[in-house]
Amino acid sequence: MIELMANKAPVITIDGPSGTGKGTIAHMLAKALGWHLLDSGALYRLVAVGAERKNILYSNINELVSFTLGMDVCFSRLFEGSIELNNEEVSTLIRQETSGELASQVAAIPEIRKALAERQLAFRQAPGLVADGRDMGTVIFPDARQKFFLTASLDERGQRRYKQLINKGLGVNLRALLQDIQARDERDLQRAISPLVLAEDALLIDTTELSIDQVFEKVLAATQQALL
Ligand code: DC
Repeated sequence: MIELMANKAPVITIDGPSGTGKGTIAHMLAKALGWHLLDSGALYRLVAVGAERKNILYSNINELVSFTLGMDVCFSRLFEGSIELNNEEVSTLIRQETSGELASQVAAIPEIRKALAERQLAFRQAPGLVADGRDMGTVIFPDARQKFFLTASLDERGQRRYKQLINKGLGVNLRALLQDIQARDERDLQRAISPLVLAEDALLIDTTELSIDQVFEKVLAATQQALL
């Protein structure tokens, strides 16, 4: 009975390419509602980083799947920005550009998407879940109460990422960054399985000209309406 109720917990999905602010918005929304938060991109990043450490080749699907299923992931301090893999704090490592690039490659492997699906579904707990990713509204939680799809121009996304990296004291070339973002976009959009697509029933928000607070205002208003 308890499990049945948990399965019916409401879900809000926020999908879109990187650099649209969806991670920040998902975080703000989950906090405002007092709900759970799923950062699904972090799971793909964890597989990529873990596989690299263990020298598992992406061609060795059996080993990669077995690593994915066995990952001991701790998201309990996600709201403070902390993520642990096998008892080690890895949030800084998985947020690096190289980890994002590898995650995008790992995410194109159907067996890995399947291996991570159960783990993502398990985040659906009362009182509710805010899920951020690429296929949250289309594949993982098609019955979400409200779906959002955030976009922004490539230029704007590049500028945002550039500023983030510079603020962290990391040297970065804007042109190279834009090329990397474009390459990742193409891979995420064109992969055969669960590509990044706009769900028919998602609310599309172009964030190019909007501040985070303005985006949040729109997302919160639509969410409150959906939860009435
Ligand atoms: O959101 P992010 O940048 O942390 O995601 C890293 C990569 O993981 C991204 O390039 C595509 C992939 N991803 C995915 O395929 N499906 C998701 N639900 C989330 C992320």
